[in-house]
Amino acid sequence: MERKDFIEQVGLSGAAILIFGCTQGCSKSEGTTSNNNGNNNSTPVDFTIDISKTPYDALKTNGGFYVEPTTNVIVVKTSTSEIIAVSAICTHQQASITYQANNNRFYCAAHGSVFTTTGAVTTGPATTALKKYQTTLTGTLLRVFA
Ligand code: FES
Repeated sequence: MERKDFIEQVGLSGAAILIFGCTQGCSKSEGTTSNNNGNNNSTPVDFTIDISKTPYDALKTNGGFYVEPTTNVIVVKTSTSEIIAVSAICTHQQASITYQANNNRFYCAAHGSVFTTTGAVTTGPATTALKKYQTTLTGTLLRVFA
């Protein structure tokens, strides 16, 4: 084999390896992206908690909230008759949001975005609403689901 032929063959093999490697890397990164409206994980949201027990005690009081760590959903008792749930992950750059009972709104301290209790953006820089979840309360059992 002549030197020119050798370089051509090695060059083609190297290019094939690079293309294959890129394809593998790209498919892995696509698998980890979020499709959950800012909730930056792929865990399906459907859980039930007993709000009469620890660590959900805050949900006994109006204005109290609890963040479910597996799904990053914030559950809030906004009034005597209402418990709501939205994604606890800001849609701007995925910082954690908190509930501000005195203003009945969600707030992201990272850059100041504000959301209503329906998840709608009222102050940016976020432009996308928080994902809101359904809740049903049966006795002291609260189900949160998509
Ligand atoms: S990450 Fe929430 S406002 Fe930027």
